[in-house]
Amino acid sequence: PLVTTGELATRAAAGRAAVAAFNVITLEHIEAVVAGAESVRSPVVLQVSENAVKFRYGRLLPLARAAVAAAERSTVPVALHLDHVQSDSLLRQAPDAGFSSVMYDASRLPYAENLAATRAAADWAHAQGLWIEAELGEVGGKNGEPPLDAHAPGARTDPAEARAFVADSGVDALAVAVGSSHAMTTRTAALDHDLLKELSGALNVPLVLHGSSGVPDDELAAAVAGGIAKVNVGTALNIAMTGAIREYLALHPEAVDSRGYLTVGREAMVRAVAGIIGVVGQTTS
Ligand code: G3H
Ligand code: ZN
Repeated sequence: PLVTTGELATRAAAGRAAVAAFNVITLEHIEAVVAGAESVRSPVVLQVSENAVKFRYGRLLPLARAAVAAAERSTVPVALHLDHVQSDSLLRQAPDAGFSSVMYDASRLPYAENLAATRAAADWAHAQGLWIEAELGEVGGKNGEPPLDAHAPGARTDPAEARAFVADSGVDALAVAVGSSHAMTTRTAALDHDLLKELSGALNVPLVLHGSSGVPDDELAAAVAGGIAKVNVGTALNIAMTGAIREYLALHPEAVDSRGYLTVGREAMVRAVAGIIGVVGQTTS
């Protein structure tokens, strides 16, 4: 069934687990995330980023409709989340498109402007009944820019600033920069677990880890133990899908039916989803 992101994150945080949130780009991603979550009997979040909407000719609804339909028919709880939203017009489409939550990303702005923009977005989101996540201390590697050095001092969230930011903006969850970076194709990120502990002590909202594809299993498990309640994964699915398709096409150079390679690509994503949920998640029964 379709449920809300807020309830999944709150339940995960209470159980000292994390809900895994996977970025979906195609129908195959949606089907694979739901099938992977069903295979391990776990709730899951389907998230659509502003970049994915740009890829879909700027249209949110076709992919959103598919995600809603997949969630409604799933045998595990599935929530829909709109990810890394910078555009106000996209933000305003969230409720009608079936999303129960949004991540409003003004983290590129200086603190005061990030706060003002995020507070306005949070006021609007709450009036619509949406759960809202924001980011402070930018997690690098977005929009194809090179991943930041995992230890770059700029890529860290300050606990005191984070406490004030959450209180003053009213957001329901916070994405923190603790050493992960977006779009990593190797799992080599080293997280700052002491900082994460400080952040989880200072904040009373669920914490979100972005760029989780680059984080090794043991570090991910430690991050969840240290207070991360939502784990965002995108690149890992594309690594799985593209690798399987590349292998299939090398073995079948004569193939023309797209179902052949999409099937192996989708199955590889199902396995990746189940594996990640196994590291961070919590089962429903
Ligand atoms: O919001 C999405 C995630 O942060 C995805 O990051 O593609 O590096 O796993 P990733
Ligand atoms: Zn992210």
